[in-house]
Amino acid sequence: MSKRMTPHYGNYGQNWMIGTVACLIVAGTVVTLLLGTWIGFALLGVFLTVSGVCLLLTYLVSLSRLDQRRAFDVSKLLPFRGTESALDLGCGLGKLTVGLARVLPHGLVTGIDIWETAELPGNSPERAMRNAVAEGVGDRVRFESGDITSLQYDDESFDIFAGANVFNNLRGDEMKLKALREAIRVLRAGGHLMLIEVLREPTGLLYATPLYYWMLKTRSQWEELITRAGFSHIVFNRLGDMGCFVATKGASLQDVAEST
Ligand SMILES: C[S@@+](CC[C@H](N)C(=O)[O-])C[C@H]1O[C@@H](n2cnc3c(N)ncnc32)[C@H](O)[C@@H]1O
Repeated sequence: MSKRMTPHYGNYGQNWMIGTVACLIVAGTVVTLLLGTWIGFALLGVFLTVSGVCLLLTYLVSLSRLDQRRAFDVSKLLPFRGTESALDLGCGLGKLTVGLARVLPHGLVTGIDIWETAELPGNSPERAMRNAVAEGVGDRVRFESGDITSLQYDDESFDIFAGANVFNNLRGDEMKLKALREAIRVLRAGGHLMLIEVLREPTGLLYATPLYYWMLKTRSQWEELITRAGFSHIVFNRLGDMGCFVATKGASLQDVAEST
């Protein structure tokens, strides 16, 4: 009998984090050993080393809180019919794709990604599919290549447009708006946006370096952007430490275009 594979949705930013922590600790040690007789350099060396250790500890805490062996539980976010077609943008190894497929037993979830491995080691459609099969939803998901900001899908072809931990990666409001307007384009009237992101709030510090933290958005900034893109009825929820926005495309594409 073959052993059932345990799904794992990947450790975000692992290589980058290991590199940064190693650089800080090595630099701190070198500065202390070579120049530590001067008090200023001694303090700098200690500061660099302590920063590296703190970064490593917060990363380990964030990994345990994220629990990357579990898909997102989205069951309470919407009154699902179970037959919807959903698009998961920047799906990575399928944490949200699988979560959606579980609540759509007669639907289809398409996960798309540019399959960056710097941010998500081992990122690939094959590995994402292995996770889906291990979770028993392989028959209703598919994984494709595609860029969030210019989607290859027809207008009004999905009921749900979802994304987790990916919109924060798009540089600046213009790129985020571009992706949200693509959401408006490919969603059917009455379709839903589901956006899951780390927010600029105290728990966000667990998931971002102090510098990156200031690039995160607050809840109200996200709500403003989602409204500007043309969505209405925004409902805010929490999934663990993440903020989750569910919004509705209330009208046909033409009506939305006229109102924005
Ligand atoms: C932090 S991972 C999150 C993966 C997954 N959504 C999750 O929650 O586990 C970000 C993902 O977004 C993908 N990504 C980044 N920019 C993208 C873009 N412009 N279009 C599609 N995918 C993108 C990366 O390749 C990566 O898989």
